[in-house]
Amino acid sequence: MATLLELRGVSAGYGGARVLLGVDLTVERQSITCLIGPNGAGKSTLLKTVSGLLRPQEGTITLDGTVLSGLPTAEVLTRGVVQVPQQHGLFPSLTVRENVLMGGYILRRDRSLVRRRYRDLEELLPLVRERASDKAGNLSGGQRRLIEFARSLMLDPVLVLLDEPSLGLEPRSLRQVYDLIGRMRADGKTILLVEQNVRLGLETATHGVVMESGRVRLSGAAADVLANPEIADLYLGGTVKPEGSGEPRGGAPVSQSEGSGEPQGGAPVHQGPAPTGDG
Ligand SMILES: Nc1ncnc2c1ncn2[C@@H]1O[C@H](COP(=O)(O)OP(=O)(O)OP(=O)(O)O)[C@@H](O)[C@H]1O
Ligand SMILES: [Mg+2]
Repeated sequence: MATLLELRGVSAGYGGARVLLGVDLTVERQSITCLIGPNGAGKSTLLKTVSGLLRPQEGTITLDGTVLSGLPTAEVLTRGVVQVPQQHGLFPSLTVRENVLMGGYILRRDRSLVRRRYRDLEELLPLVRERASDKAGNLSGGQRRLIEFARSLMLDPVLVLLDEPSLGLEPRSLRQVYDLIGRMRADGKTILLVEQNVRLGLETATHGVVMESGRVRLSGAAADVLANPEIADLYLGGTVKPEGSGEPRGGAPVSQSEGSGEPQGGAPVHQGPAPTGDG
């Protein structure tokens, strides 16, 4: 697979406060890359920096070799990077159809393109057709999430950024959301998502990235990250259980001290630069 998105030494934050402290990250084309890490690690900040909502203070972000960092959000959007808002992204009093079409607003002069994209979306997600005339406010939480995705796809993005797509969903909707993420990938999209439901995220993803305190701690094939004993300890309650046995338990705060126990087994996961603080 070829690289689509690359971050090199990216630092960013809010006002004087630095949150990202030199992030190096590679996202392969047509991958599902799942970002995990404790609360406050900087995962959402990373997505906002990629989508242009935040300007990096240092470092470079490239998409397909062209520089994204420093471009305004609207420009990042036209380069094919969309971020699905975390919640309350739909207009409840508008219909599903109107909401989805809203996603193609900047294409409105090209009506045939808008029609074609809308038809493609009906294929990808039959719910768009089934509930076309219903007000978005009448959908369930899971259905709203799916329609938010559909709306973001009106621009036919190359890269879709999803911040905690499973948040607040019951198991059935959660499966539908992840099923759609899989189909988006099959459709040629690249997905970078943040997930607190670590097992679900890594089982769906092709690549996994662990962030801690504004840095990438480790990254690799999703299966390897999932099988990494340290990750199992920190996020999955100690042991890596076979699929479907037991509840995932994401979001455990990482407060691991240096040298607390040897990793056993050593899955082939690339270790990021350790935050030694003596640089
Ligand atoms: N708009 C903001 N203004 C100031 N500080 C912020 C802002 N948003 C986030 N922060 C701070 O930046 C740090 C990283 O936040 P971020 O939301 O990126 O973490 P996260 O990894 O997404 O966490 P979570 O798992 O809780 O969503 C936190 O300390 C947070 O308090
Ligand atoms: Mg977040």
